[in-house]
Formats: sequence, C-alpha cells, structure tokens
Amino acid sequence: MDQYIPIIDIIIALSSAIDLINPNISNHHKRVAYISYCIAKEMGYSEDEIKDLVLAGLLHDCGAVNLIERSSIFEFEFGNSFFNRHSHGYKGWFILRDAEELRSAAEIIKYHHVFWKEISHKRFQSCKIPKFSHILHLADRIDILINPNQEILQQKKYISKMIRNGKDIMFMPMAVDAFENVASKPYFWFDITSTYLEGQIRKIMSPHKVYINSELLIQYADIAHRIIDFRSKFTATHSIGVATSASALASKLGFSDCDSRLMHSAGLMHDLGKLCIPESILEKPGSLDNYEFSLMKSHTYYTYRILDSIPGLGKVRDWAAFHHEKLDGTGYPFGLDSKSLDLGSRILAVSDMFTALTEERPYRHAMSLKDTVKLINGVSTLDYDVKHCLNQNIEEINDIRRTSQEIVFQSCNEIFPEFDEEFNLHAL
Ligand SMILES: [Fe+2]
Ligand SMILES: [Fe+2]
Ligand SMILES: [Fe+2]
Repeated sequence: MDQYIPIIDIIIALSSAIDLINPNISNHHKRVAYISYCIAKEMGYSEDEIKDLVLAGLLHDCGAVNLIERSSIFEFEFGNSFFNRHSHGYKGWFILRDAEELRSAAEIIKYHHVFWKEISHKRFQSCKIPKFSHILHLADRIDILINPNQEILQQKKYISKMIRNGKDIMFMPMAVDAFENVASKPYFWFDITSTYLEGQIRKIMSPHKVYINSELLIQYADIAHRIIDFRSKFTATHSIGVATSASALASKLGFSDCDSRLMHSAGLMHDLGKLCIPESILEKPGSLDNYEFSLMKSHTYYTYRILDSIPGLGKVRDWAAFHHEKLDGTGYPFGLDSKSLDLGSRILAVSDMFTALTEERPYRHAMSLKDTVKLINGVSTLDYDVKHCLNQNIEEINDIRRTSQEIVFQSCNEIFPEFDEEFNLHAL
C-alpha cells in the first residue's frame, strides 16, 4: 500500500493541534490564514501567489511552543526585547523549512513580526523579507484584537482604529488600506468568527491540492515531532528515538520498506496529543498526582483525534495512538486488548518505553541499557515477540536510536547561534 494524502489535510490537522497549547485561544491560526488571504486578495495578488501565505497563516506560531511564549504573543504589543519578538518566527522557520511544499511559507513565518519601520534597519539589511510577512503580521495583530466574548461587528471600529494607529510604523501601509476595504464588509467579520471558517480555508486551498505518499509523509511527521519535542528539553529528541527504534524493529519483524517508513512516521507523531499537556506537568520533577496523571492520559486520545482528522492515514493513526494500550486491556484511552492490537501498535509500545527509559527525565536519570532491557522484559503487557526481537538486536537498535537522537540534538543546538548571526544580535 502507498496511500496518497492531501497536504492540506495534514496542515489543517497540525494547525488545530498547535492551538491546543493555549485552550483560551482557539482557531487563531485558521483566522489569521483567512484574514491574510482576504487582505492579499484585496491587494490584487493572485490565488496562486496567496497559497503560501495561507499555509504560513495556518502554522505561523508553531515555533511558540510553550505556554509562556504562547501567551505573551497574544498581547497586541509584545516583545520588549528583539529576541522575544522574533525568536518564535525563527523557530517556526526551522521547524518547517525541510518540507518542500512549505519552504516559502517558512520564509514568510521567519519574519512575521518585523515592523514595517524596521525593514530599513541595519539588522534586516541582509534579510530578504517577503512582502507576505508584512501581511501575515498585520493579520495576526488584527486577530489578537478580537474579543471572543463580544459581538464581532461591535468591535470593528476599535480594531480598525488600533490598526490605523500602527500604519507605517508596525504595519505595511498598503496592507492597512486593503484591510480597511475588507473590514467595511460585514461578511468578512462573520466569516472569521463562524464555524464555516475551516470550510472557507479548504475551499481556498482546493485548487492547490498536492498529495503525498509514505516517503514524503515523513517530512510532515518530522514537523509534528519538532513542534512537540521542542516544548521541553527533556523530550527534545524523544520522538525521533521512538521513530528510529520502531522502524528498525518493524524491518526486523518483516514489515515491508513502505510499512517501516509508515512506522517511522507513526513514531514521530505518537506524542502529538502532548501539545495539550501543560509544561508544568511535562517537566514536573517528581511523580504525577492523580489529577496530573488523568490529564496526562488524555495525550494519546488527542493523538488519535488529531490524526483521525487526516483521512487516509489509517494504520499510522492507530500505531501512533495506541502506544499506551496494553495486551490485557488495562491501557488507555480505548482499553483495547490483544485481540485488537496489531503488531505495529505493539512495536510502537515497546519502542516508546525503550526510548523513554534510556532518556533523562526531571525525576530520574537515564537508565543503563542492561536495566532498560531487564525492565522491559518484565512487563507482561508488552508483546513477547517484539521484546524478543529487541533483545536479539539490542546493540544495533540502541545505536540507531542514539545516533538519530544525537543528530537532532545537535541541530536544535544550532538554531540560536544561527538566529544571532542572521539578525546580527551581537554586531549591533
Ligand atoms: Fe507570532
Ligand atoms: Fe499568531
Ligand atoms: Fe512517547
């Protein structure tokens, strides 16, 4: 099998997933995508040109991965320091830049908080700031000004005034003029606050449908892994470790190349639902209390629901989301048992535990390989054949896991020096 999946389904699923980080602000990314589209259209850009701006809108804050960062950008004027304002755009670019279809969107996102008056500043002289970054910036700030508890047309005057005050300083003047035209039409305000918003975005993107296969799916699963794992230094390389050990085990257990690749993608995305778990719980330096553990249990439920919104993902969704199910039926969130857990789900469960035990956690040190294997062998609710395969190939699989994690660790460490260099943080 090699399923073909429309990229837009994956992007919308990721867009909804990143809004889970702050439950108080839902649909921010979709609204910003739509507002950007309306402004760019009013400025005379073609549908074809605007497509990358819409993609950028849908994912623009994917680099603001923790709640503090995420909450601060929801103030109209934020980022007293240059670093605070621009670092999440830069991280967003880093997260997205390797997926071919998102390369232009990543460039737009990188500069989405550059003020219009800053473009002539020395810092940005060597940067090629896309014009769409300015439109995205404006759309983003328009959305920040919306009060979800007030009737939308009643807010039009205030929002337009605030935006006009920022013309030429924060915002590109032509984009502000276009916004004024769009803002005079009530449908625009109703669209951004109605439940038809997602349908509108799907309609806008329908002429640009691009499909991917299992090989390219890895690029998008990799984005999911970067978004999830960047939230905590303790898990920065967790998903890649799970992905590489699970796909190695899958190959050894007779999976085809295509299915092993799908297993790799499932490993990268298995903790997607952790976006709804606060960092205070993810990083708690002790064991979780009952309340925290109940919250934690929801992560595989959300992994399932997020991936279920991407038709055609099939077994990747199941392998990813069933990693806390147990053969005796006592796992979560579905309480599945050995009759319904296939080999792929069993492989992922073993790989998740294997990788987690070899990593540092806030409440314990990384376990030795010998102790890890001993502990896993003693867990009766994990599959016997998968455990046996891990035992037989432990050195090789551990090497694969460790090497993949080291590569990711190194590339994560490089982003901030690169950011300093690109924006001349030390030179000015
Ligand atoms: Fe932002
Ligand atoms: Fe935003
Ligand atoms: Fe995990």
